Amino acid sequence: MVFENFLHGADYNYEQWLDRSDILEKDFFYMKEVKANVMSIGIFSWAMLETDEGQYNFKWLDNLMDRLQANGQKAILATPSGSKPAWMSYKYPEVCRVDEKGIREKHGGRHNHCRTSIVYREKCREMNTLLAKRYAKHPALFMYHVSNEYNGVPCFCDNCVAEFRSWLEHKYKTLDNLNKAWWTTFWSHRFTDWNQIFPNDGSIQGMILDWRRFNSELTINFFNNEIEPLRKYTPNIPITTNFQFPDVWLDYHMFAKKVDVVSWDSYPDWHLYDSEIEEGIKTAFMHDLYRSAKKQPFMLMECTPSSLNWKPQARQKKEGMTELASVQAIAHGSNSIQYFQWRQSRGGEEKFHSAVVSHIGTDNTRIFKDITKVGCLLEKLSVNKKLLSTVDKSDVAIVYDFQNGWAIDGAGLPRNNRKNYQAECIEHYKAFYKKGIQCDIISAELENLSDYKILILPMLYMFPDGTEQKLKAFVEKGGTVVATYLTGTVDSTDLCFLDGTPGNLTDMFGIKVEQNGVIADNEKAEFQYNGKKYNSVDYIDIIQNAGAQVLSKFESPDFLDMPVITKNKAGNGYAYYLTSRNNSDFLKDFYAELCKENNIKSFVNFELPDGVSVQKRGDVKFFMNFGNKEVSLNYEGKEINLKSLGYYIEGID
Ligand code: GLA
Ligand code: ZN
Repeated sequence: MVFENFLHGADYNYEQWLDRSDILEKDFFYMKEVKANVMSIGIFSWAMLETDEGQYNFKWLDNLMDRLQANGQKAILATPSGSKPAWMSYKYPEVCRVDEKGIREKHGGRHNHCRTSIVYREKCREMNTLLAKRYAKHPALFMYHVSNEYNGVPCFCDNCVAEFRSWLEHKYKTLDNLNKAWWTTFWSHRFTDWNQIFPNDGSIQGMILDWRRFNSELTINFFNNEIEPLRKYTPNIPITTNFQFPDVWLDYHMFAKKVDVVSWDSYPDWHLYDSEIEEGIKTAFMHDLYRSAKKQPFMLMECTPSSLNWKPQARQKKEGMTELASVQAIAHGSNSIQYFQWRQSRGGEEKFHSAVVSHIGTDNTRIFKDITKVGCLLEKLSVNKKLLSTVDKSDVAIVYDFQNGWAIDGAGLPRNNRKNYQAECIEHYKAFYKKGIQCDIISAELENLSDYKILILPMLYMFPDGTEQKLKAFVEKGGTVVATYLTGTVDSTDLCFLDGTPGNLTDMFGIKVEQNGVIADNEKAEFQYNGKKYNSVDYIDIIQNAGAQVLSKFESPDFLDMPVITKNKAGNGYAYYLTSRNNSDFLKDFYAELCKENNIKSFVNFELPDGVSVQKRGDVKFFMNFGNKEVSLNYEGKEINLKSLGYYIEGID
């Protein structure tokens, strides 16, 4: 989609304040002060829009749309399915989710409807049809925010389980195929009737993996049902739905294909550690994940103006943090900075969640001033239209795959504490981040590999069908692949490859994994590489050499002479294997060398001081200091001073 300006706005719960016209009046005034140009509205408003079945009240929403338009803001209009009204749950209990024990949840909470309920699907279509028709011509209608934070959490009602069984029948055709794929002869788990399958048995790992896939697809299918009327009556209005941190039951790579623009909600743990460096890296990884999903600018749909109410502790943001986190999002490809929430609610679950306008009710607060600064910055950046439409290409891709994460979660491995799949991907990512080299974060579908020079597979335990061919073709043409321990251990149904791993690629890597092992907590696994000493932890693959060059071996007695790093030429490229889990020190040095060999350049030609990150979008460079010390950089003859939590943008007037 085309953005004309950087967006600045928030979730606005106007409907909570209908009897306080004085407060609403102030809201519109304050919106101008922070230079807001959008508001996400109507997110949890079903009970206010349809007060009883068929009793509609759109008046307040009409007013809100008109007032936004008059005030210079556009509407990111939500569909209200994130929370259902009480009358609906009581009249049609099937809309409520059922738990694993078969108990239907009582009305309440949110994000907890059954996704196969015909009634709920129909009600959503009716509501969304009314919204789309009513506001189709309204000048404030800018975008749809479909539902809120779909999470894919399963419902075990008879309907959902029956749907799962048909999904399986469609996938496996025969019970025999299914029994083979799930290896059910183990522990006498063979199924002789589709109706015997109930997805609560964690010991059948292939089943749980399929159950997660099914729930992810079902959620996307539910979303498709929601958007049909929106596409029909308002085909030109872009659609998004807000994604979260990837510990939900959704494959966001798949989901991203269905939205016009990816948006996500970012809630890092700022100010809980010695510095903001590590949180900064994790957040950058997430931004890059969502930028790579479509290789287009994305939107930061929610972040907190200051503190939160749902974590063990969430410190109010220190001066500069809001601005720095906003600049970071923009630098990594976001075209919006939006907050949860505009005005702090007076009651309910989130009354202590910060907001642009706090309970004190004025614009004279630190938070309000911080947000105003962001508004001014976005206004300034919006002058640069090229920046708005640009995200840079990457030479490096890291595979971080949701389904692979589920498979690792479900597997009983030789080490089950500290599996840390996502953290391991971030360790690899960090090596590039610290050098000022942008990475894409892609799925195991391995699309458009020809865009990349280096492809990294941290713990890519599961190889979906076709992985071998895609990796071979990439390396044949001159690409460099780096795989780590556990890579290519199982196929897409979680069945182990036989004859040594990485599955079907032992020739390409020039090695065969003989055993997936562990470096125990009481052991040392030291090695040297290019004259420097390093230490591995947690996991080690014990390998047989099948022709690869061994670049380093362990020197510690427990693992003496076992290979740490292997390299194999295959076609015009190289396949590396890292047999063990290494710290970021090693990864940084190792990847620096690979980048040099592949002529991959940093955004800057000097070493970045600890905590400083640099990003680029077209002609614009962003320098950010997540460390707690002031630093000064010499960038192309210019001295740049960055105080702690400070930033500098090069390339705008
Ligand atoms: C999520 C939700 C919001 C709100 C915020 C609070 O991201 O989408 O409705 O609950 O968290 O941080
Ligand atoms: Zn259900």
